Amino acid sequence: MSKIYLCGMELKNDLLIRAARGEVTERTPVWLMRQAGRILPEYRAVRNSLSGFIELVKTPELAAEVSIQPVDILGVDAAIIFSDILVIPEAMGLPYEMVEKKGPFFPRTISNKADADQLHIATGEELSYVYEAIKITKKELNGRVPLIGFSGAPWTLLSYMVEGGGSKTFSKAKKMLYTQPEVAHSILQKLTDSIINYIKGQINAGADLIQLFDSWAGVLTPAQYEEFSLRYIRQICDAITEVPITVFAKGAYFAREEMGKLNCETIGLDWNMDIAESRKLIGDHKTLQGNLDPCALYGSFDEVKKATRNMLDEFKGARHIANLGHGVYPDVDPEKVKCFIETVKEYS
Ligand code: CP3
Repeated sequence: MSKIYLCGMELKNDLLIRAARGEVTERTPVWLMRQAGRILPEYRAVRNSLSGFIELVKTPELAAEVSIQPVDILGVDAAIIFSDILVIPEAMGLPYEMVEKKGPFFPRTISNKADADQLHIATGEELSYVYEAIKITKKELNGRVPLIGFSGAPWTLLSYMVEGGGSKTFSKAKKMLYTQPEVAHSILQKLTDSIINYIKGQINAGADLIQLFDSWAGVLTPAQYEEFSLRYIRQICDAITEVPITVFAKGAYFAREEMGKLNCETIGLDWNMDIAESRKLIGDHKTLQGNLDPCALYGSFDEVKKATRNMLDEFKGARHIANLGHGVYPDVDPEKVKCFIETVKEYS
């Protein structure tokens, strides 16, 4: 068994990193997207002691505390740094707010070339509060499990910057692709350069693996996905050579074959993607991550166990990191989450 030393600290549980690199592991590693925050009452307690989400993101000691909670309480094989994908637009000059029970809101949005020209490329220095949180988390984890750093992918970030918040259709952002494609490309390139700087900063601070979230990949046509998203994700994957990288593009079932050619170690699958078909399209040279339907955790304990085992059966024998097909939902019982994790750990 190979040992992995990072920043001079031995990782006691390096299953995630070895699985990402395609090495044989004793068992399948498991973590959950959105495991920090959302479901744990212990998170709520920390969050409620502050003015809001953004203060928590910008207070490194507390961000570290809530990043580690799922490791202690749920028993996952990795921590993910507590932050948000929207820190990048803010670092580029477009601040966001987080509205209680509603979600992200941008007081100013981007709708034309003049707006786009005002955005600057983030050097990464604007995000030193995230790096500080990573350093503290790494120190407090003391090598127990790896720490995942992350960023939103360019297309998903552009969507929020144009829409000013969430949307069912992302039609304003898509309208820009049809009516002002050159403006979209100029924003996407600035985002890409900013993301690369930011990811390098996270790795320097101690992140052991990076995940890119392209949450709104599924609203684009296949041709648009290639032109306005994959092209930029490719640049990011090519620039990040220091640690393994995972690309999760929700709804991009049509791009799986092309994603198999990315310079990354792991591809995340959502629950709509058939596992055997994905393996065939993507190939054997990538680790696949996912992909239990987050709603399966509303079932009884027996049903959760059964659904988890069925998923593992389908992935069996090939490179795999167990996860849900998207983030865990806020109203899921943490005991059901533990049941999912335990079932993966006991499976052989
Ligand atoms: O995985 C983790 O738990 C680590 C932290 C993390 C958060 N956001 C904390 C958060 C991560 C990885 C994200 C990523 C993120 N943020 C994505 C990509 C992943 C995905 O789900 O597709 C997206 C699209 C966002 C944007 C965002 N941030 C939305 C839409 C919302 C509102 C509602 C929600 O929870 O999704 C947020 C707020 C947010 N980000 C919260 C947390 C814990 C809840 C805010 C609160 O505590 O009040």
